[in-house]
Amino acid sequence: MAQFGTVFCDHFTSVRYVDGSWQQRELKVIEPIPLHPASHVFHYASTCFEGFKAYRWEDGRARIYRLHDHVARMQKSAASLRLPVPDADMLAQMVIDLVGSQVDDIPEPPSSLYLRPTLIGTVENIGAAAAPSTEALLFVIASPVGDYFSGNGKTLKLLVDDQNVRTTAQLGSTKTGGNYAAALGPTLDAKAKYGVDQVLFCPGGDVQETGAANFLLISDDEVITKPLDSSFLHGMTRDSILKLAADNGYTVSERNFTVEELLQLVPSYEAALSGTAATLSPVGQLVYNGEEISVRDGNSGPNAEKLRAALQAVQDGSAPDKHGWLTEV
Ligand SMILES: Cc1ncc(COP(=O)(O)O)c(C=O)c1O
Repeated sequence: MAQFGTVFCDHFTSVRYVDGSWQQRELKVIEPIPLHPASHVFHYASTCFEGFKAYRWEDGRARIYRLHDHVARMQKSAASLRLPVPDADMLAQMVIDLVGSQVDDIPEPPSSLYLRPTLIGTVENIGAAAAPSTEALLFVIASPVGDYFSGNGKTLKLLVDDQNVRTTAQLGSTKTGGNYAAALGPTLDAKAKYGVDQVLFCPGGDVQETGAANFLLISDDEVITKPLDSSFLHGMTRDSILKLAADNGYTVSERNFTVEELLQLVPSYEAALSGTAATLSPVGQLVYNGEEISVRDGNSGPNAEKLRAALQAVQDGSAPDKHGWLTEV
């Protein structure tokens, strides 16, 4: 299968916001979007997006994973950027219409259809740095994706960075392009300098998250992760793993922890990144102050694997959807 994010379904859904209301939504053949060069998004980064997946089960029908939670997160992002907030039912229906039109193109689980709703400010005004975009375009595109969790024991290496911030105080829990732009430079520098896969941003010693995934510590009976606050993106995978961990008898400890504490815990705790793309990917090494530190013995551990498998089983239908996370199309 082609590299993630480079192949698209031949249809997309879109709707414009003009004159204070959402217009008629359309499902049509994917095509370039004509935008005026003065569009707000190009100058003032008025953009947010979502990323989640639909799975095709053996019965030939699709299930969208945590659709309504992703819609709610998109609404929160839009509100924080002062963009017109998409109506929840409208956005959910745009996703459902698109998935419904593409069911036959969804590969078998654990492969899936990645869904990417995107909202951009389109008002034509280059003097609007301090004004919201009063016009917007919302669209949803879809991309078939393979299972990038190889399960071959490969672990990730992270730079523990207690200097840089991933984003700003205002936009930590907003899924907006500027956050990825901010994390890109430090992440590329860290890859080049230390050969790491990602940077774990820990400003002032506070262990937060990487550029595109949340961070968890896992033992035989406990999962530790940062509690929800405005500094980081509230991942649906994080939330799912915490709920599945509780179902499986783990103590869920949502608490702040420092780099110092992290280094004390990794000889005995597994570490993992959670996200729609990462699912739950084991971390084997940390680099801190130029020194390489193994997480346990450096290999993937049984608890992260157990929780990852529990998540996958809900998504592919081999375990019951006790929490009502799936929307059937
Ligand atoms: C910054 C950031 N943190 C965490 C996540 C994980 O979120 P989710 O589990 O909802 O995919 C993502 C991916 O969307 C992300 O971009």
